[in-house]
Amino acid sequence: MSGLIALSPLLRAAEERLTALGVEDARLDLLYLAERAFAIPVGRLRRADGVQVPVDTVASFQALVDRRAAREPVQRILGDWEFWGLTLALGPETLIPRPDTETLVEAVLKARPDRARPWRILDLGTGTGAILLALLSEYRQAFGVGVDLSPDAAAVAAGNARSLRLADRASFLAGSWVDAVAGRFDIIVSNPPYIPDADIAGLAPEVARFEPWRALAGGADGLDPYRHLVRVLPALLCDGGLIGFEHGADQGLAVAGLLRDTGLAGVSTIRDLGGRDRVALGQRPAGLRAG
Ligand SMILES: C[S@@+](CC[C@H](N)C(=O)[O-])C[C@H]1O[C@@H](n2cnc3c(N)ncnc32)[C@H](O)[C@@H]1O
Repeated sequence: MSGLIALSPLLRAAEERLTALGVEDARLDLLYLAERAFAIPVGRLRRADGVQVPVDTVASFQALVDRRAAREPVQRILGDWEFWGLTLALGPETLIPRPDTETLVEAVLKARPDRARPWRILDLGTGTGAILLALLSEYRQAFGVGVDLSPDAAAVAAGNARSLRLADRASFLAGSWVDAVAGRFDIIVSNPPYIPDADIAGLAPEVARFEPWRALAGGADGLDPYRHLVRVLPALLCDGGLIGFEHGADQGLAVAGLLRDTGLAGVSTIRDLGGRDRVALGQRPAGLRAG
């Protein structure tokens, strides 16, 4: 017989260890890890006083804590994460979907409020498929294509579409931006890599060491992908079609400027929940000469 042990002191000791190592919000991460190790819901663990766990499950919890102590993000340790209320599997080559990116989903839904239209959507640099799958979960008649340079990321996104029962309206391609894409779209979205290359090493270890370089690195000033995309995207947009880009908090003016320079109309910048510039929208005016 294995016996039981109180969880509170285990959590407290782990929190002290992680906090001393510089992990922010260690308590919350530990609740997620404990939920996975002990199969006890986070809601119950928040009031851990009085909770006991089998002694022979403690080693598996400590192994997860060791990974977090090495600064592996909690999302990667768990292997999946929630975005827009959808559980998405992660892979080594997919970025962890961020709450900031929900700003882009919200902005598109606001700009194109008809949920019943069969929108054709293109998501460039799809990663886990987060943005495309969130939009398809809202637009129930829409069809979408997700593209990623990483074949592994495209495969993870396709798996997520299957798990979410969206696979009949989503297809995923491996390739560079629009090289393998044909046709016209009503909505094109992208959260491209936008960190200046030289800044990556100075980011938190969770990002610098565990996120894929190609999901972060946007060239010398972080804007290389936007410069490329604004050149090639208007030709893939139908008249009145919408482009939505996520960008860095200090890139709002630059990205909106690139959209205007390419001839898009109604260009606007939208802030995230933290009040930082996060999303640029623009639409293709009828008759724009492109590509
Ligand atoms: C910032 S991540 C965004 C991932 C996902 N869309 C999200 O919002 O969580 C950028 C993505 O662009 C992909 N990527 C980088 N260069 C690319 C290229 N030339 N063509 C297509 N995808 C590219 C990366 O592999 C990565 O998945």
